[in-house]
Amino acid sequence: MKAVEIQNFGIENLSIVEKDIPTPKRGEVLVKIHAVSLNFRDYLTIEGKYNPNYKLPLVPCSDSSGEIIALGEDVIKWKTGDKVMGVFAPDWVSGTTNTQSIRSTLGGPNPGTLQQYRVFSENGVIPLPSNLTYIEGSTLPCAALTAWSALTEFGKTQPGDIILTQGSGGVSIFAIQLASLFGAKVIAISGSEEKEEKLKQLGVSTIINYKKNPKWGKEIKSLTGGVDHVIDVGGSETLEESIKTLKPFGQISLIGILGGSMANINLLPILMQNIKIQGILVGSKSAFESMSRAIEINNLRPIINHVFSFSEHREAIRSLKSGSQFGKICINMG
Ligand SMILES: NC(=O)c1ccc[n+]([C@@H]2O[C@H](COP(=O)([O-])OP(=O)(O)OC[C@H]3O[C@@H](n4cnc5c(N)ncnc54)[C@H](OP(=O)(O)O)[C@@H]3O)[C@@H](O)[C@H]2O)c1
Repeated sequence: MKAVEIQNFGIENLSIVEKDIPTPKRGEVLVKIHAVSLNFRDYLTIEGKYNPNYKLPLVPCSDSSGEIIALGEDVIKWKTGDKVMGVFAPDWVSGTTNTQSIRSTLGGPNPGTLQQYRVFSENGVIPLPSNLTYIEGSTLPCAALTAWSALTEFGKTQPGDIILTQGSGGVSIFAIQLASLFGAKVIAISGSEEKEEKLKQLGVSTIINYKKNPKWGKEIKSLTGGVDHVIDVGGSETLEESIKTLKPFGQISLIGILGGSMANINLLPILMQNIKIQGILVGSKSAFESMSRAIEINNLRPIINHVFSFSEHREAIRSLKSGSQFGKICINMG
């Protein structure tokens, strides 16, 4: 079988290696991986900017869907032929947990999914929603679950809530789609006029261009009277403006650092208005299962930007870096 490995950091240094197809041990399943989706984290990992201390060689990428083709001893949950998705942090089962479980993530430190076959623990996969293709299902383990955790586990979204999303990357588009399941109203900022129409088609009511209006916080506050929840992916470039958009007792889910991770911000409005800033790291397996059921029942379809072939993995990762995409970038492993 073929696998992509980071042998030295840098997209140019990715190598395709030949390996034996692994044999599942007790409590494990062997999955033929059909599709992988990419996240900004994968680009950072490959470049050595996510965690330069990750042990190499490392198979990158956290997200996958595929088919179970062999079972280890004592596996009772699954049968061959079952369609599944890999869990982002398999040891984080539900609720709050310890550091070790949160760090049981695929694509660093644990081997990732950019390989044709992979062994998972029987608890490290969940069923693919029946309404989704392999490609669509591969987009759920990281970006979709992150948006779901922010909106549900940590955000407790209610009908009528106003949610602010940022840009048109994977997490933000899922946040827009999932927010509609709860009857929330979504407004967005985007730096691209071209993508505005597409965001409107997904149900976003108002869009502010953050490049034309870098001080968008006050404008959003005056348009809405204050938002309930900001899905913040810009980090240091957006946090201060995000705070300005909120109602008292509003929440910022701090998810991304697209604009940087070091912020010098005014802390006063946070305490004067009882604002909550909640860090989000993807989510638990139990949240993944809940989201997956919601996606199936509501026939929610992930937005796919482009599907690359396995041999085009470098182009796929480069295109992720460009930020020009609308929706998820995937790799067809077939
Ligand atoms: N905490 C977690 O668990 C978690 C999980 C997944 C992702 N993340 C992080 O969340 C961020 C987004 O991830 P993603 O996979 O959704 O990324 P992505 O798909 O690469 O999103 C890129 C989009 O974000 C927008 N953008 C870029 N710079 C921006 C800025 N400074 N301010 C506002 N928007 C900006 C652009 O949209 P427009 O062209 O429309 O402006 C761009 O197309 C990344 O930092 C990623 O590492 C964190």
